[in-house]
Amino acid sequence: MEFPTLTKFHFPFVSSLVLLSIVTITLNPVMATKRCDFPAIFNFGASNADTGGLAAAFPLFGPKTPNGETFFHKPAGRFADGRLIIDFIAQSFGLHYPNSYLDSLGTNFSSGANFATAGSTIRPQPSIGQRMFSPFYLGIQYSQFERFKPTSQFIRNQGGLFATLMPKQEYFSKALYTFDIGQNDLTAGFFGNMTLQQVNASIPDIIKTFTSNIKNIYNKGARSFWIHNTGPIGCLPLILANFVSAERDRYGCAKAYNEVAQSFNQNLKQAITQFRKENPLVAITYVDIYTPKYSLFSNPKKYGFELPLVACCGYGGPYNFSNSVGCGGTIKINGTDTVVGSCDKPSVRVIWDGTHYTEAANKVVFDQISSGAFTDPPIPLKMACKRK
Ligand SMILES: *[C@@H]1O[C@H](CO)[C@@H](O)[C@H](O)[C@H]1NC(C)=O
Ligand SMILES: *[C@@H]1O[C@H](CO)[C@@H](O)[C@H](O)[C@H]1NC(C)=O
Ligand SMILES: *[C@@H]1O[C@H](CO)[C@@H](O)[C@H](O)[C@H]1NC(C)=O
Ligand SMILES: *[C@@H]1O[C@H](CO)[C@@H](O)[C@H](O)[C@H]1NC(C)=O
Ligand SMILES: *[C@@H]1O[C@H](CO)[C@@H](O)[C@H](O)[C@H]1NC(C)=O
Repeated sequence: MEFPTLTKFHFPFVSSLVLLSIVTITLNPVMATKRCDFPAIFNFGASNADTGGLAAAFPLFGPKTPNGETFFHKPAGRFADGRLIIDFIAQSFGLHYPNSYLDSLGTNFSSGANFATAGSTIRPQPSIGQRMFSPFYLGIQYSQFERFKPTSQFIRNQGGLFATLMPKQEYFSKALYTFDIGQNDLTAGFFGNMTLQQVNASIPDIIKTFTSNIKNIYNKGARSFWIHNTGPIGCLPLILANFVSAERDRYGCAKAYNEVAQSFNQNLKQAITQFRKENPLVAITYVDIYTPKYSLFSNPKKYGFELPLVACCGYGGPYNFSNSVGCGGTIKINGTDTVVGSCDKPSVRVIWDGTHYTEAANKVVFDQISSGAFTDPPIPLKMACKRK
C-alpha cells in the first residue's frame, strides 16, 4: 500500500501537536489519559496483605512450610501458598513484591514499604484467650510510616548503596497507598463473646478510626489511595467451624456474619465518599473485594475451583480446620507426630488455611478488582491516580 497523501498532509510539528490534543480532549477523559506511573506502593493492612511483617517481628508465629510452596517455594512471610493480591498489584506496575517495613535484614525499600502484619486490627485490640492479635494496629502502622518517611531520606542522602535501597522523596506523593484491613476487628468481636448486633454497632467507630488514619497519611502527602473493603468472613472455615449453629445461606456460608461484613463495607464506602468530598486533591478508590470473593463460593466451577468451603492446609472436621493446630503445625494423630500439610492441588482451591485464600483465588480476585468493575469510582487500578 502506498501513502500518496503523506506529503500533501505534512503538518508542521506544532500543528500536529495541536491536532493530537484535540483528539485527546474529545475522547473519554479517563480512557484518553495515560496509565498512572506509580513508582512505589505503601501498604497498610492485616494478614491478607502481610508480606513478612509478622514473621520478621515474631519468627515463631510466622508462616511455616507448606506456606509459600506454590510460588516462592519456601515460607515467604505470607499466609498463603503463594502470592497475595498486593503482590499482583505491585507486579502489575513492574514493582518488586512489597517488602515489609519490619524486615530489618537487607531489605530494599526503593519501591515502597509494607506496614501490614497478620492479626492487625484498625482499633487497638488486646488478645482474647488463645486468639492473638497483632500489636501493630493501624495507628502503629501509621506511626511507622511517619518515621519511615524522613528516615528513608536521611539514609538515602548517605549515597552509594544506601541510596539504592530507599525511595526518592517525590515517590511519597506519587505512590499508590493501599489498604486491606478490618476483618480482624470483626473477628475480635465474634470471638470476644459480643453478639452480632454488638459487633455491628461497633462498626461506625471502627470506620471512624480507619478514616482518621487515612487522613493522617493524606496529611503526610499521600494522594492516591486504593482501599479494599472486607471479604465474606462468613464463608471462612474459621467462622464455619466455630459457629456451627449459625444459619447458612444457599452456598453454605454463615449468613449473619456476612451481613456484618456487608455493614462494615457500606459504612466504609460512605466514609470514603465523604473523604473525597472534603479533600478534593485526593484520588481515593473504594475497592469491593467482597463481591469477587463471594463469587468464588457461589460459583466455584466458573473459576475451576472445587470444595470452596474446605481448607486445603488444615486439619479435621468438615472444613478441614481446627482451632488447636494450623497449617504447618504439628499434631499427634494416633500417637504419631504429624505435620499439617497441604492438599494435592492448591491451584483448584479457594481457601488455603481456613482464614486465608490460595494464590489461585487471589489471582482471580486481583483480575476482577483491577479491571474497574468493582471499584468506586469505576476506574481500573492503572488509573487509580486520577481524581474523580
Ligand atoms: C533495590 O531495588 C531497585 C529497584 O528494583 C534497584 O534498582 C536497586 O539496585 C536495588 N538495590 C539493591 C542494593 O539491590
Ligand atoms: C466467652 O464465653 C465462653 C463461655 O461462656 C467462655 O469460656 C470464654 O472465656 C469467653 N471468652 C471471652 C473472651 O470472654
Ligand atoms: C447493622 O447496623 C446497621 C446500622 O448501622 C443496620 O442498618 C443493619 O441492619 C445492621 N445489620 C445487622 C446485620 O445487624
Ligand atoms: C487412628 O486410629 C483410629 C482407630 O484405630 C483409626 O480409625 C483411624 O483411621 C486412625 N487415623 C489415622 C490418621 O491413622
Ligand atoms: C486437609 O488438610 C490435610 C493436611 O492436614 C490435607 O492433606 C488434605 O488434603 C486436606 N483435605 C482437603 C479436602 O483438602
